[in-house]
Amino acid sequence: MRAEFDESLVTGNEMIDSQHKELIDKINKLLDSCETSKDKVVSVKTLDYLADYTEFHFGEEEKLQEEITYPGVEKHKEEHEKLRQVVRDLYNMLEEEEGPSAAFVEAVNKNVVEWLYNHIKTFDRSVAEYKFMHENGERL
Ligand SMILES: [Fe+2]
Repeated sequence: MRAEFDESLVTGNEMIDSQHKELIDKINKLLDSCETSKDKVVSVKTLDYLADYTEFHFGEEEKLQEEITYPGVEKHKEEHEKLRQVVRDLYNMLEEEEGPSAAFVEAVNKNVVEWLYNHIKTFDRSVAEYKFMHENGERL
């Protein structure tokens, strides 16, 4: 299974949407690498790329929320923290299981892909809507 960016994931905010596409690309690269190589070093490396980009993206989203004084910023940060924990767990799994096992792939699909879909459709969409209202409210 591969993650896919489709219409249902569009928030309407260009920066957020383009970063989500990139994030999904990084997730798919990790899933691809699990199929092509069972080498722990390879999967740790591709997980590094995903983890780095996740940090960058969360930082950008949180900065944006602070700029527009989004009221849900603290709760949103807590949600981001949940994925950070998932990523830490994934590193541990790769160590314990000496590489990308079937359980590892399942965890990526369930705890990263599904988390991201749900997060985008609720938390991120709400930020994009708030930003839009914040900028256009007076003109509507
Ligand atoms: Fe978010």
